[in-house]
Amino acid sequence: MTDVFGLSHKDTSPSIGQARHEQVVFCSDDRSGLHAIIAIYNTALGPGLGGTRFYPYESEQAALEDVLNLSRAMAYKNALAGLDLGGGKAVIIGDPAKDKSEALLRAYGRFIQSLGGRYFTACDVGTYSEDMDIVAKESTFVTGRTVANGGAGDSSILTAYGVFQGMRAASAHTFGTSTLRGRRVGVEGVGKVGYRLVGHLLEDGAEVVICDVSEQAVERVRKLHPQVEVVADAAAMKAADIDVYSPCALGGALDDDAVVELRAKIVCGGANNQLAHPGVEKQLAERGILYAPDYVVNSGGVIQVADEIQGFNMDRARVKATQIFDTTLKIFSIAEEEGVPPAAAADRLAERRMSEVGRLRGIWLGR
Ligand SMILES: NC(=O)c1ccc[n+]([C@@H]2O[C@H](COP(=O)([O-])OP(=O)(O)OC[C@H]3O[C@@H](n4cnc5c(N)ncnc54)[C@H](O)[C@@H]3O)[C@@H](O)[C@H]2O)c1
Repeated sequence: MTDVFGLSHKDTSPSIGQARHEQVVFCSDDRSGLHAIIAIYNTALGPGLGGTRFYPYESEQAALEDVLNLSRAMAYKNALAGLDLGGGKAVIIGDPAKDKSEALLRAYGRFIQSLGGRYFTACDVGTYSEDMDIVAKESTFVTGRTVANGGAGDSSILTAYGVFQGMRAASAHTFGTSTLRGRRVGVEGVGKVGYRLVGHLLEDGAEVVICDVSEQAVERVRKLHPQVEVVADAAAMKAADIDVYSPCALGGALDDDAVVELRAKIVCGGANNQLAHPGVEKQLAERGILYAPDYVVNSGGVIQVADEIQGFNMDRARVKATQIFDTTLKIFSIAEEEGVPPAAAADRLAERRMSEVGRLRGIWLGR
């Protein structure tokens, strides 16, 4: 049972021990109101990198569960993105609209600094590049700052580009050609990532169908690309006559019903945690639908912010994000060879890299 901050909790989830994290740090500063948890899943490939989620969790336990899951997921994402970075993530418990202040962000920055570079932070839900600029006043281990401050800026640029690379790979595997020319692609959610993805697809000659709960988001796309078709909602998108389904809104887009309704041959999108529950990846494979694992194809964003650690260079970051094409293809062939769904093949490949490259740390380099 955890109750470090004394916030209300439900004691139903696994303990830190079961989650097998290297380090979990509870950070508290009453004067600024900071209550944060930093979780480092592993540093086999390098310091943990992952964003800071600022969210009004209903309990400390809920925040802990989230940060443990998210930091583990970052280890896998960073490994397959070819980064020499481990998995980390942080959560700040609170309502960003009410509780975010310069003092709180700077207090948080000092806790990050105290970890001596074992964890690099970035933006996530509830935090923005401008916030990272403030955190960076107290810590050198911050990415995702504004371009004006030497940062990588809006990570959706390479996220969308990377999803497009993953989709090209899925097309090569399924249709024998890496272009989306002449294919109908459905993009569900045209926010920062989906909007940019539509541009890549049209440039490649695809027909694009979109939907979004926000009228404004739809209009923004229609204004720039009047040829895009609009369907009413996510249900209509799944039932639409499309070759590729690209979830770019929230998580959980693929549940049992969606698998049955889906007419597309490929699923490849930017959203995190697309599978509503474990087992959906098997159902997709059984229906002959190729699923490009979300954390592989949406890793362009982390590739973009990770580049900031070396001094940001968009060209270099873009070259790295282009490799998502090869990685995705490799995952599909491992899946075929080993007779497992691509999601399982991706996990295996990530674990292999963490173990094989991480092992090299055992080779003594002298003084
Ligand atoms: N921005 C990044 O760099 C990045 C990186 C990796 C993963 N992701 C993931 O990609 C997804 C999109 O991120 P984003 O930055 O574009 O967010 P965003 O908030 O800019 O866009 C999300 C869009 O989805 C729409 N939406 C919400 N619910 C919907 C529904 N039921 N049906 C249709 N549309 C719906 C919203 O109106 C919004 O326009 C998220 O899951 C995010 O976690 C983003």
